[in-house]
Amino acid sequence: MHLLSRPRRNRKSESVRNLLQEIHVQPSDIVAPFYLLPGANKKEEIAPMPGIFKLSMDLIASEAENLHKKGIQAICLFPVTDPSYKDLYGTEAMNDNGLIPSAVRFLKKELPSLAIISDVALDPYTTHGHDGIIDEDGYVNNDKSLRMLKAQALSHARAGVDIIAPSDMMDGRVFAIRKALDKEGFTQVNILSYTAKYTSPALYSPFRAALNSTPSFGDKKSYQLNPSVVKDAYIEASQDEHEGADMLLIKPGLPYLDVLYRVKQSTSLPVGIFHVSGEYSMVMAAHQKGYLNAHEAFEEALIAFKRAGADFIFTYSFNYFLYEKHTFC
Ligand code: PBG
Repeated sequence: MHLLSRPRRNRKSESVRNLLQEIHVQPSDIVAPFYLLPGANKKEEIAPMPGIFKLSMDLIASEAENLHKKGIQAICLFPVTDPSYKDLYGTEAMNDNGLIPSAVRFLKKELPSLAIISDVALDPYTTHGHDGIIDEDGYVNNDKSLRMLKAQALSHARAGVDIIAPSDMMDGRVFAIRKALDKEGFTQVNILSYTAKYTSPALYSPFRAALNSTPSFGDKKSYQLNPSVVKDAYIEASQDEHEGADMLLIKPGLPYLDVLYRVKQSTSLPVGIFHVSGEYSMVMAAHQKGYLNAHEAFEEALIAFKRAGADFIFTYSFNYFLYEKHTFC
């Protein structure tokens, strides 16, 4: 039959498909998140996240070295804080010799060319699991929290961290942290702002289980974004840009591709996405039941993130690509 256009011709073979492929996911697009345990030679599996372990810094160093050899350029760290170090104010977050600063010093010595990203927020350090300081009425006090976040960021910078990632969602924290960093001479430390971090008790729950940081009362709706409102993402993005952020992050991942796409169109800063713990759990649970193949599901997700405009992707699926199949899409 004579047809002028046969779009299938451009999909007829592997070679033609590869030639015309628009989206390529590279190891250098990936940020690997790690849950950091105190001590040495410690490894604990996270039940809702099969294949992901909480690790002590020495074991993170050896895993990160393998990842770096395969082309991964950055990892980020989340601390599993000993409950005896938690208090109402998250004081331990400012400790220059705390878990994160110690691990940063160690990792920068072992793997100087790997970028280390540290999370700035109080939830792993507070007894109530909120990201800031609580007023008597239970409200998370913005300006009191900023003081703690600045001190926390400085303790990471003194340890030699490359990139500071505030994930707390307080107003004005990018400016406060930028000013504090510059005042101490850390003008080269980047700020990667969690710009549009949507509230998601479901999709953050494996993370909170791993860190034992589930809020003991209330929820995070007064600071994390409302999933039913898109315009706050624009407001947050333009504020972060004016406050001196170097990179923006959208979170969670697949349910927020529209937000990623829109924010990417509205800024000239690099924009990343966080494919969060609950998204990893969903895929792995289905994989373990034989309902789908995790590698295929992760590959499709990563392509979708790049198609929507992501410049970088935080994902726990890094293992799958680097060890299981040794391939990248
Ligand atoms: C907290 C923080 C959270 C995540 C990263 N930083 C959870 C929360 O806000 O309760 C979630 C990451 C994930 O689920 O993978 N500041």
